[in-house]
Amino acid sequence: MTTEERDKLYLAPTYARFPVHIVRGEGRRLFDADGKEYLDLASGIGVNIFGCRDAEWTAAVEAQLGRLAHASNLFYTDPCVELAEALVLRTGLKKVFFCNSGAEANECAIKAARKWGEEHKGAGYYNIVTMKGGFHGRTLATVAATGQEEFHRDFLPVTEGFAYCEPEDADGLERAVTEHKCAAIMLETVQGEGGVVPLSEGFLRAAADIAKRHDILLIVDEVQTGMGRTGAFYSYMSFGIAPDIVTSAKGLGGGLPIGAALFGERTADVLTSGTHGSTFGGNPVVCAGACNIVGRLTPEFLSEVARKGEKIKTALAGADGIECVTGRGLMLGVKTVRPAADVLAALRDEGVIAIKAKDKVRLLPPLNITDDEIDTAVRAIRKVCAK
Ligand SMILES: Cc1ncc(COP(=O)(O)O)c(C=O)c1O
Repeated sequence: MTTEERDKLYLAPTYARFPVHIVRGEGRRLFDADGKEYLDLASGIGVNIFGCRDAEWTAAVEAQLGRLAHASNLFYTDPCVELAEALVLRTGLKKVFFCNSGAEANECAIKAARKWGEEHKGAGYYNIVTMKGGFHGRTLATVAATGQEEFHRDFLPVTEGFAYCEPEDADGLERAVTEHKCAAIMLETVQGEGGVVPLSEGFLRAAADIAKRHDILLIVDEVQTGMGRTGAFYSYMSFGIAPDIVTSAKGLGGGLPIGAALFGERTADVLTSGTHGSTFGGNPVVCAGACNIVGRLTPEFLSEVARKGEKIKTALAGADGIECVTGRGLMLGVKTVRPAADVLAALRDEGVIAIKAKDKVRLLPPLNITDDEIDTAVRAIRKVCAK
């Protein structure tokens, strides 16, 4: 049996996989079982931000693997302390909780917000207002936080304690915050799974202002937008807002699973001993790799991400068969005249891998993609969209 056949036989069919069997990666190149080479514009859904087999990251991971793979949170270990310190110094936030995925990071943020609401606002102040079209994960609480009915449908009853508002509707957000006993507002600055929909600076500032005036928390989900993806270390940093909780995952691990919830001044002491935990959270090997990633996201590197994003946008905007290009930095959504799935299949024939977000072609290339590789990608996208 082929790998594809065994996959269909043994794996829960939660993913409609592309008909590609990846066996190896090298930088921004992926290779399938037949030896076909692809330019990677997906980075494993925004994870491999320095591409595959990145020498520095691999060395950091391998060195730690040779010392200690796992100890658990019952002990002190160096890599997780180093990573937490690096994130705190970089953001001005105060404390970090490590877990293993974006959903878990958001789950942690939701728990912390509920505890904060109860302690600071009173009984019943547990509601969190999230944005329609947003996406926060696949666990029961994060599915409930996800403001899209299609994710709720099969899993009723939806976990209580969430209200939804249209992004860009500041009045609606204020109404929702007033009508419910709220602990927090939670949002992404660019709705990734929702179709690469950026929220405007005006709305983000208004949301921060509403949270402040109503004395509730602002949670920013940076799972997809974080780690330089939009051209800032965390995307909220471009908008002069100061969230109380920031969640991070994907690119933070650079290829290994990690999640993190970062807590600001008001929330630093909410989660106390025994209130939350994770066996693998802060795993030494993952954290050693993540320290390497964080250290390389210099201001110069980040401004290059922004420049490359603009370069792709300019090269694609207005091209034949392309309706619009949305997003920030190297998190881009291309609305094509042809159905996105057809464009993705045609791109694979051209040796380029991209993914979908709703009805758009989504580009999340490794952040160290070169200008030559961008030219190759743009040529292929323009060619298949024009058909
Ligand atoms: C904004 C956002 N939050 C949360 C998640 C869930 O992350 P994970 O799949 O690591 O649980 C995702 C995943 O795509 C995401 O894009």
